[in-house]
Amino acid sequence: MKILKGIALSLIVLTSCHVSNKKTDMDIFVDGLMDKMTLQEKIGQLNLVTPGGGILTGSVVSTDVEQKIKDGQVGGIFGIYGPEKVRQAQSIAVNSRLGIPMLFGSDVIHGYKTTYPIPLGLASSWDTTLISQTATMAAKEATADGIFWNFSPMVDIAKDARWGRIAEGAGEDVYLGSQIAKAMVKGYQGNDLADPTTMMATVKHMALYGAAEAGRDYNTVDMSRVRMYNEYLPPYKAAIDAGVGCVMSAFNDVDGVPASGNKWLLTDLLRDEWGFNGFVVSDYTSVNEMIDHGMGDLQAVSAQCINAGLDMDMVGEGFLTTLEKSLNEGKVTEKSIDMACRRILEAKYKLGLFDDPFRYLDDSRPSTDILSEQNRDLARVAAQRSFVLLKNNNNTLPLKKNQKVALIGPFANDKSNMLGTWAPTGDVNLSVTILDGFINQLGSANNVRYAKGANVSDDSELAAKVNVFGTRIDIDKRSSKQMIQEAKSIAASSDVIVAIVGEASEMSGESSSRSDIVIPASQKLLIKELKKTGKPLVLLTMSGRPLALGEELEAADALMQIWNPGVEAGNAVADVLYGVYNPSGKLPVSFPRNVGQVPIYYSQKITGRPQEGEDFQKFKSNYLDVENSPLFPFGYGLSYTRFEYSNLKLSTNKLNFNNTIVATIDVTNRGKLDGEETVQLYIRDMVSSITPAIKELKGFSKVFIPSGETRSVKFNIAADDLRFYNAALEFVAERGDFEAQIGTNSNDVLIAPFTLE
Ligand code: NOJ
Repeated sequence: MKILKGIALSLIVLTSCHVSNKKTDMDIFVDGLMDKMTLQEKIGQLNLVTPGGGILTGSVVSTDVEQKIKDGQVGGIFGIYGPEKVRQAQSIAVNSRLGIPMLFGSDVIHGYKTTYPIPLGLASSWDTTLISQTATMAAKEATADGIFWNFSPMVDIAKDARWGRIAEGAGEDVYLGSQIAKAMVKGYQGNDLADPTTMMATVKHMALYGAAEAGRDYNTVDMSRVRMYNEYLPPYKAAIDAGVGCVMSAFNDVDGVPASGNKWLLTDLLRDEWGFNGFVVSDYTSVNEMIDHGMGDLQAVSAQCINAGLDMDMVGEGFLTTLEKSLNEGKVTEKSIDMACRRILEAKYKLGLFDDPFRYLDDSRPSTDILSEQNRDLARVAAQRSFVLLKNNNNTLPLKKNQKVALIGPFANDKSNMLGTWAPTGDVNLSVTILDGFINQLGSANNVRYAKGANVSDDSELAAKVNVFGTRIDIDKRSSKQMIQEAKSIAASSDVIVAIVGEASEMSGESSSRSDIVIPASQKLLIKELKKTGKPLVLLTMSGRPLALGEELEAADALMQIWNPGVEAGNAVADVLYGVYNPSGKLPVSFPRNVGQVPIYYSQKITGRPQEGEDFQKFKSNYLDVENSPLFPFGYGLSYTRFEYSNLKLSTNKLNFNNTIVATIDVTNRGKLDGEETVQLYIRDMVSSITPAIKELKGFSKVFIPSGETRSVKFNIAADDLRFYNAALEFVAERGDFEAQIGTNSNDVLIAPFTLE
């Protein structure tokens, strides 16, 4: 066992004597280490730097990194990859006065080098086992490259499709989001943080980041506590209950106080109420940004943050440069600095770094563990399961191999948009294009012809904003007329058109909010012209957010949402289009009819003036110019087969605090193909002390049903499932009437009433 120089002796002495106050080995170790640390060294542990690798999400990068590491002024680092580089940097830390190893972090959001679909796509699988497997695989790849601290999962609930980062989360629903949060934490962390193939996860962004006003990134958030507790906070809590090691604070304010300096959020709620015992890292320069928020100068905001319970300062160095002064002036206490330092050292202890600071550095691993065939296979499976079939008239899909296909659109033969946003460690060049996926599937290029047809957008100003990490919108030298002409001519000699349309990958993600959420005009024109050919039209929509797809829905014979599918994009698309895999994805977020309906979500409140039906009614809660319903509801998604629901039965319709209702429903596969269906349980609370949602998801089950067969699907309903936070923020189940609603999406359900007595 390698032991840090300078502390070896005390460690041996301390661990060998019998301690009566039940201190753990970790406590004893950290006590011993902290006894040796100067104030500056303690503050140094609170400093997270980046020398500038990876994606920079702020305007600042750290300077003099090497000297700072030597001086014990760095607790963690991100943006360095590969065993060799990580070893170099870690060696500097290990050779500093106390030799405390650093944390090496990264944003491993949807895969490391093997990129999976964007998180919103993964969420569409409603398959928490699969999602957990992708996290485990990502951890294996990242740790093979020396990275053992992940800035994922992002669990911010998002009901506003204008917000670009909706792509990075699990969508609108608090229950689905919580299940996925748990699955990802378990996937990344496994059972032992010190296992060299697992990594410490960070749940982010605490809190409410997805509720930024008007969907504009980094904007103010303001909401009632009741809403926070019921609709937004549970996924963070689920991650904490699953044992997440780290929490990242958000950029936005909560109740008027920026999250990074919000004591209620970071201490009262997170630690005192929820019992979180890991450490909290700020977001990129979010401490410094409190100056712009209007909270004071760097010294003041840094003091506010440490007093609030923030432990580590990402990149901004407010802690490093001002905490000592604040301590001398009595604005912060030594205790709070000690607490923060202790939490970071504890994380390092749990990761096994004090046993071996180089435990994650095995030069043989990158070649075996990264981008292996097995990993790519998982990426392909994950992508297949992320696609959501939204329309399929006349069984246009699946395609037959003897059909001549015109493969059209700006994403049809493109590598640069397949990975999606927030894939800084992925490599766009490794992506399988959709054209190549078709050729691989068909074994030849005989039955597939390609034309670009349109630019993603003709707007060069938009392209300049979107192309910051490489070309995502590539404006062709040809005119739009020429491109459309070419597309139409190949369509004319084909049996079916498959057009891949939508958004460039960086049109969603961080700092990529849109005030309108439609397909760009260049592609709309292409679709219109393709429609005129009269050939069956299959539209595949690629986007990191729900788009308002009304016109496309009308034009298409078949429509499938494919998000950004990741590195195996083309192969997965071809698998599903040719029926090798029967699509099973369900929307984790409602698709609006137009941007004016946003925020739109299924679990809305009923209001005192609910609209009846879809027609406009004066003095009811509705619009003059659009229906209330979304274009596609939450949970929606078709299959090549047809599932019929029948026979909803409850074991009893009287629930109490000791028994459980077993709800059973039969699901029959009436079509010719085998398929998977995600059966969804919603509950409606008929009378409540706070205005209830129209329904809330409380369970789901993904089942495989062979053609012609029936499966009985069971859900247990207990009083605990009916709990919510009341006006006094007590987590209660109130007696009264409820409905169990089970079906294929949030809008299409069978209903059975029951009572909680
Ligand atoms: C800013 C983003 O908000 C956060 O999610 C990310 O982890 C950090 N930058 C680090 O890259």
